[in-house]
Amino acid sequence: MERRAKKSVAAVVKSVKAAESGAGALLSILHAITAEFGYIPGDAIPEIAGALNLSQAEVYGAITFYRDFRITPPARHSIRLCQAESCLAMGAVELIDLLKTRLGIGPGEKTPDNAFSLDTVYCFGNCASSPSVMIDGRLYGRISAERLKKILDAIKD
Ligand code: FES
Repeated sequence: MERRAKKSVAAVVKSVKAAESGAGALLSILHAITAEFGYIPGDAIPEIAGALNLSQAEVYGAITFYRDFRITPPARHSIRLCQAESCLAMGAVELIDLLKTRLGIGPGEKTPDNAFSLDTVYCFGNCASSPSVMIDGRLYGRISAERLKKILDAIKD
């Protein structure tokens, strides 16, 4: 499948700003840039600030306040493990230990080769199928250590 060329930051800002104004435009722009690039590139901050008549500190503050925004490129594979009550009761501690050992990183970190990121989440709303993990956007329930190892083994690159 052919990938489409990415829009420029300026084009993303312009298209969102045309549809929205006010405080809501900032979050919409941040979501649109994240959808386009996977993160908020550094040069986007002055561009957004200028377009919305905000300070760069205000834009940076919004980016760092919300967990869904990042200012560095994402890892090639994202692993998000639920650490809320139901999943903890059903074995999530064993899973986080497995991931820490296998990847050599802890929650909030990326492997040095940028292949994997590991994050903890507090409920996917999938409690009936605890423990739950999301890998590259796909939610897995009733995940065992053996099944998690097989999923990780199947990831190429
Ligand atoms: S507690 Fe893990 S999905 Fe709800």
